[in-house]
Amino acid sequence: MNIYYAPMEGITLYPLRNIHREIFGDSIDKYFTPFLTASHTFHFKNREKKDVLPDKNPAFDDYPNQVQPQIMAGNAENFLWAAKEMKKLGYNEVNLNLGCPAPTVVTRHKGAGLLTDPDYLDDMLKQIFSASSEKELFPEISLKTRLGFSDPSEADRLMEIYAKYPVKELIIHARVREDFYSGSARLEDFKRAVGIFRQNGGSADICYNGNIDSVADYTSILENLQNRSGDGESVDVNSIMIGRGLLSDPSLARQIRAAADASSSTTSSAQTDIADGASLAPEELRTYLRRLYEAYAEYIPEDRNVIFKMLEHWAFLHVHFKDCDRQLKAIRKSRSKAEYHAAVSNIFANCEFISSAGDH
Ligand SMILES: Cc1cc2nc3c(=O)[nH]c(=O)nc-3n(C[C@H](O)[C@H](O)[C@H](O)COP(=O)(O)O)c2cc1C
Repeated sequence: MNIYYAPMEGITLYPLRNIHREIFGDSIDKYFTPFLTASHTFHFKNREKKDVLPDKNPAFDDYPNQVQPQIMAGNAENFLWAAKEMKKLGYNEVNLNLGCPAPTVVTRHKGAGLLTDPDYLDDMLKQIFSASSEKELFPEISLKTRLGFSDPSEADRLMEIYAKYPVKELIIHARVREDFYSGSARLEDFKRAVGIFRQNGGSADICYNGNIDSVADYTSILENLQNRSGDGESVDVNSIMIGRGLLSDPSLARQIRAAADASSSTTSSAQTDIADGASLAPEELRTYLRRLYEAYAEYIPEDRNVIFKMLEHWAFLHVHFKDCDRQLKAIRKSRSKAEYHAAVSNIFANCEFISSAGDH
């Protein structure tokens, strides 16, 4: 089972990718960048381009396979240009965003907006996959889709379309656009969609995405997908992708991998390298926070902005501290590096640490 770190805008940038890898080792098979916009100008924004430069991947010994750029494009021409640029930078695979729910994206007929017009999407993919068969110029292509725009029944047509093309991996976020990020993941619709994809000859690897926030979530979702009780449909997934769960517990993939190994007899050498699936230790979290701060400080100039970045993480990480409202408020109110670090020391010194976010 591969475990992927989901693309998250403004978050899974190179400082986080490198520091996560540095502290949590090879618990993650692949990190997805936030989307890079492939615009009609055939130029990336500077900060987007910087995020995928090979020298920004120092923690990765095989970045072409361990980091995957995600592209946001509304037509084949723009996507193909961006994919080619990624190949020039060494990447072996790129991902097309077919799920971003933001109104500004959707109204421009990009992200989840492409799901509203299956005929257009079919034509766009046809152009993309016929051009990208030139292997020396283009990387392989994975898709990250939702089950539909408004209703999961839309997945039927979408899966028929995806099945027509040599997609390397189909990542399905088990929601529709109108769900945004809330509510439970739609597991039954996910299974039905994968079934339709396979019935139509789709051979891509399948990645499940949505609400894996703990080992217990992983186990129950996998059990449901594989339907061990024996009735109803069952689907095999090659990979899982985790977003918010890794922000809350950066050690989650290590724990899941140990659980997956325990229930499978085949253990790869990469998997045996990973410690015994230990839950998050307070010192480990401290080191992660300290290294992340240092990495953001190199990435953005002012303390205030570095602190803002760290607060995006604290919005998820606070679950590890019991009864910590006052200490957390001090972190949020900090205005300088010294104030921030003092507030962080204070929360570690004075609040009970809860290892597993899932216990909360
Ligand atoms: C803050 C935030 C930013 C996101 N940015 C992206 C993005 O750039 N590209 C993308 O495909 N998905 C993006 N997503 C969606 C995630 O990749 C993932 O599909 C979603 O969070 C569901 O997985 P989870 O339940 O494990 O978090 C974003 C999600 C969040 C919460």
